[in-house]
Amino acid sequence: MRAPRKKPSRTIAPIIAARLNGRFSLQMQADGSIAAVSGDYSVNLGQFSAPAFDRAGHLATGLPLASLAGKSVFARQLHVLVQRLAQHGLLDYRLFSPRDAQDLVVIEPQIAGYWPQPAKLLSGDTIVLSRFAYLRRRGNEMVLESPRAGALFRICDPAIAATLAALSRPQKISKLRKQVASLNLDLLGLLLDSAMLIRDGDGLRVNEGDRNLVLWDFHDLVFHTRSTEGRHSDPVGGAYAYAGVMPPLPAVRPPWPGKKITLDKVVPPEPASPFAKLLRERHSTRDFDDQNPIKLAELAKFLGTTARVLSEWKSGADVDGGPEVTYSSRPYPAAGSAYELELYLAVSNCEGLSRGLYHYDAGGHALVAIDASARQLRALSMAAEFAMGASGPPQILITIAARFGRISWKYSSIAYSLILKDVGSLIQTFYLTATDMGLGGCAIGTSNIDLFAGMTGLEFHVEGPVGQFALGRGRKAGGSS
Ligand SMILES: Cc1cc2nc3c(=O)[nH]c(=O)nc-3n(C[C@H](O)[C@H](O)[C@H](O)COP(=O)(O)O)c2cc1C
Repeated sequence: MRAPRKKPSRTIAPIIAARLNGRFSLQMQADGSIAAVSGDYSVNLGQFSAPAFDRAGHLATGLPLASLAGKSVFARQLHVLVQRLAQHGLLDYRLFSPRDAQDLVVIEPQIAGYWPQPAKLLSGDTIVLSRFAYLRRRGNEMVLESPRAGALFRICDPAIAATLAALSRPQKISKLRKQVASLNLDLLGLLLDSAMLIRDGDGLRVNEGDRNLVLWDFHDLVFHTRSTEGRHSDPVGGAYAYAGVMPPLPAVRPPWPGKKITLDKVVPPEPASPFAKLLRERHSTRDFDDQNPIKLAELAKFLGTTARVLSEWKSGADVDGGPEVTYSSRPYPAAGSAYELELYLAVSNCEGLSRGLYHYDAGGHALVAIDASARQLRALSMAAEFAMGASGPPQILITIAARFGRISWKYSSIAYSLILKDVGSLIQTFYLTATDMGLGGCAIGTSNIDLFAGMTGLEFHVEGPVGQFALGRGRKAGGSS
């Protein structure tokens, strides 16, 4: 007698639903507009009908994205409202089974405007995990992240983690289906869309993305995206996150207990040379004299002194065991003489130079205008103003960008750290030159890599911000900081 055949378990497509960030609620304003409100902070989302507002109430638990697909005025209104919330980064997305409404995955957007859009997958497709994707514990959760992804995936079902582990090797969808009964193609499509998974190949480094991506070490790309703004949603800057946990370390390290040689007895402490005096005079200037702005001639002198190419030369083949390479020399030191740093100037107030974004062509000692919208320029300057706690935008904001591949082509494992060290030496060169010229400046610790990518059209992993410096004529008498 034949054993009864096991009924194949039918997988039911999961539901993707948008959910409002728990700290916010939607409120109808007196003028009929809807605002997302959290304490004193509110974001105006525009005018919508009362039925759209009522339906948006479902965003508290999850509004299925499929319900936004209709062509009616009401559905379109709801769609616009949900997209505006997405633009402001106020949504996450639940992926759950309609059978038991349990979350399989919660998607947390990391870039403004992320929208879950499953890529299409066919039985014949082969997929593999990106070498940039990683699973880690966050609190009591397991999260899947990647510096390439526009979203983080909170994995709520251990079976999904097991499938991800299986995808460390390339897998054909048809074969994967046989191994994993509850294979969730929608989720795989979402992961593919986020570059957590990649199509094809044998997962080799050269198969993932473009030639520039090939040059990135995993830890370097994670560090770059997590230590700048624009591609993650964590707090950035002076949040004093551990103030309640432990006191700050002392400003000056307590001395070692060994024998002490007091150096002031050897050489008097007063600065003797003009250079030593310049070092003592250097300080950060955050507020600028907008009645008397920096002049184009001063900017030209500043850039010529600090950053222009002084000469170009070729290494012989086999120096260092490497191939022949062209190098340049410039006024500041740089790791391996790679000189990967580029200067982009957002000019707000400079006598003789129009407002706008410029690239400094260090080889030709020239400024080249780049088309950037007034809105983007304002956003860039305002972020700098905010970072400095200044009373207005800097006259010139220099964004120091790195051509990452110029240095990672040669250096493994230390490429990004070398770039940051180069930024430090360039910033000190800026400070000292500004002081010497009677100008003022201030380093800025954060920059938005996504905003810069939008302004220049350069992909974030090809060339992007690694530092910023505000420059101008400092405000005198109580105005200079
Ligand atoms: C890498 C770096 C990042 C900095 N970031 C900021 C910043 O974001 N905002 C700011 O107001 N100052 C910033 N500064 C300036 C420091 O606050 C300043 O150098 C420090 O307070 C010492 O003051 P002084 O430069 O006047 O001697 C930065 C300085 C450096 C070197």
